[in-house]
Amino acid sequence: MDYEEMKGELSRRLKRSRYEHSLGVADTAAFLAQRFGEDESRARLAGLLHDCAREFPNEAMTAEADARGVEYGEVERAMPLLLHAPLGSLRAKEIYGVEDDEVLRAIARHTVGGKAMTPLDKIIYFADMMEPTRDYPGVENLRDLARNASLDEMTLAGLTRSIAFVLEKGHLIHPDTVLARNELLLACRGKEP
Ligand SMILES: [Fe+2]
Ligand SMILES: [Fe+2]
Repeated sequence: MDYEEMKGELSRRLKRSRYEHSLGVADTAAFLAQRFGEDESRARLAGLLHDCAREFPNEAMTAEADARGVEYGEVERAMPLLLHAPLGSLRAKEIYGVEDDEVLRAIARHTVGGKAMTPLDKIIYFADMMEPTRDYPGVENLRDLARNASLDEMTLAGLTRSIAFVLEKGHLIHPDTVLARNELLLACRGKEP
């Protein structure tokens, strides 16, 4: 399937606002890839398909994950929507024919992050938070970082915002988000004079 065919397939499977968000992530990820010297077409592809498993309703996520042998923990059990990330990685392969492991990995990690995030993982994670259709207090600050900060500083700010948001809402914090943030915080501090 070529990129245009993927867009057609995705637009049939997702509701319109989710599809437009996906196009926004694709464009933003391509911009970030160019800025940080990463492969633009790979970033665009991962951005386009990152939410492809949102075609499943929330109630179906655990059954779909169980059917495919996806391993998950108590946080996903309590918040099954999180499973659209690992399921999206599998669906990108099943439905759209993506074989690129870097792309599949970035899709799998886009919601909660994880240890040893690759540049592509970071780009998709961040683009998802601040692509043009996103609208919430503070999003402009993240857009400034996308233009001006280093890749690690930008991603760190995204992870911090995500944890703060989850705390405010009183939801569970995924341990992978904490691991990712600790790792980047230590890396960024290590660079300070
Ligand atoms: Fe998502
Ligand atoms: Fe998304």
